[in-house]
Amino acid sequence: MCALPYVPDIDSIEPGLDLVAEIRRLRKERNAVILAHYYQEPEIQDLADFVGDSLQLAQAAQKTSADVIAFCGVHFMAETAKILNPGKTVVLPDLDAGCSLADRCPAETFAEFLKDYPDHEVVSYINCSAGVKALSTIICTSSNAVRVVNSLPKDRPVVFAPDRHLGRWIMGQTGREMVLYPGFCIVHEQFTAKRVAALRAQHPEAKLIVHPECDASVSRMADFVGSTAALLRYVAENPAESFIVGTESGILHQMHKLRPEAQLIPIPADSGCNCSLCPYMKLNTLEKVYLALRDLKPEITMGEELRIKALKPLERMLALG
Ligand code: 13P
Ligand code: SF4
Repeated sequence: MCALPYVPDIDSIEPGLDLVAEIRRLRKERNAVILAHYYQEPEIQDLADFVGDSLQLAQAAQKTSADVIAFCGVHFMAETAKILNPGKTVVLPDLDAGCSLADRCPAETFAEFLKDYPDHEVVSYINCSAGVKALSTIICTSSNAVRVVNSLPKDRPVVFAPDRHLGRWIMGQTGREMVLYPGFCIVHEQFTAKRVAALRAQHPEAKLIVHPECDASVSRMADFVGSTAALLRYVAENPAESFIVGTESGILHQMHKLRPEAQLIPIPADSGCNCSLCPYMKLNTLEKVYLALRDLKPEITMGEELRIKALKPLERMLALG
């Protein structure tokens, strides 16, 4: 018999409940840690024990001594925490919080793709499923991708998956040819060179900073390209007074805290929408975080054989520091 998927029962929450106080109480009672990505809603970031980019969150998950990890991010991030912590309960407030990169590269499709490259090393961006990780030589994130690719012997051919834009950016940084899997992020792909050029004309003094998941036509124009944590560092340390930000707008919350006086200009999508929100990241809400800690659901589970296979390339990345 197939178990029904867990659906957060928002109606079961007592009206008027102080969600923040209750989440704090449950966190203590459960010996839980709340890890949140920079793209989460501000109220979730403010509640979290730790906010970071994918690499920092994986490192925090590796180090924690909590019994429960409430992962406020997307599925591949919570799954990574589970791969690293088989004995802990890992909950993701909304199990539908996927990622366009991971969802469009199913393990079976990727295994077929790899049949054409039997001698290649396989570098997979952490934005992929455990099944894809299990097929990889090593994992990378946007903050360590160049170091990871450079760690492989120069004479070895490399397949990079699933983000073709990040892959192309790494090729430019390392001077190394790679076979690219044709995936992309639906949020970053919306930023076009035309939009960015128009914004630059409007704000000629602003620094353009973008995530490497953006198309090369956009990254080429940028003053700085980096992971979410690197973009934050850039804003904190650069004396400029305005920044055009080419990534998901959730990051603006921390940027604003670091540089309250700076002008932060998100790049609008080409559709004209004035925001750049990841629809998956935004599925997590305070109500769902509360329910996840109250009911310890929805929980991330995984077979041990798959976990062990996915752990190897992940540990290889984490060993690089
Ligand atoms: P970072 O590792 O840079 O936070 O990126 C994660 C992500 O999903 C970007 O879209
Ligand atoms: Fe995935 Fe893009 Fe959302 Fe990041 S912003 S989680 S890459 S869909």
